[in-house]
Amino acid sequence: MSRGYFIVFEGIDGSGTTTQSRLLASYLSEAGLPVTRTREPGGTPVAEKIRQLVLDPSLVGVSPTAELFLYTASRSQHVEEVITPSLDRGDIVICDRYIASSIAYQGYGRGLDLAVVEQVNRLAVGECLPDATIYLHLPVEMAWARLGRRDVADRLEQTGMGLQEKVSRGYQQIAQKDPTGLVFDAQLEIDRLAERIQDELRRLWSWFPKEKE
Ligand code: TYD
Repeated sequence: MSRGYFIVFEGIDGSGTTTQSRLLASYLSEAGLPVTRTREPGGTPVAEKIRQLVLDPSLVGVSPTAELFLYTASRSQHVEEVITPSLDRGDIVICDRYIASSIAYQGYGRGLDLAVVEQVNRLAVGECLPDATIYLHLPVEMAWARLGRRDVADRLEQTGMGLQEKVSRGYQQIAQKDPTGLVFDAQLEIDRLAERIQDELRRLWSWFPKEKE
């Protein structure tokens, strides 16, 4: 493998991107492939600081534009320090959220101009774009019910179900237009969903490990 492969997981809060990115990463590592698993916002010391700031429940009144810049600042640092070097050494990079999160949350959710959100992201990432983006689709009420079981809601989760509805509709538009996009029904049981994702990627790429006996 020369340059590695870049796989991104996307979906509304509670859709299971963290769980599914972890399962895919373990599957590929167990098959002996080099994997870097990471997440946004975060993934580097600077970006993790930005994560703490942007998800702090006590911060009220952060403007949508400020939010866009915070997420894209984190993304730029992440691309430079982690994603590009990992891809250059041939790793499969699995990232929990990326550009589509900006478009869905700051664009469709907070109402920023979509072209502006795309431009700012382009500036942040340069040519570093995903080879596959896995969209986990879950009805907002179900995602909300799942999140209800968590103890602490972060700032964005606190802003409510209305935002999640807009973000969910946004993701559906984004996925339709995304040539690297693969959409999955996240209502499936966790392990079944992980297998479906593996099946699709196996169909897409000849290097993808064969099914376990
Ligand atoms: P996430 O890490 O998935 O939260 P959790 O650990 O609670 O599952 O994502 C953090 C939140 O940040 C989530 O509500 C989505 C939001 N977000 C944006 O609004 N824009 C972005 O560019 C990114 C990466 C995340």
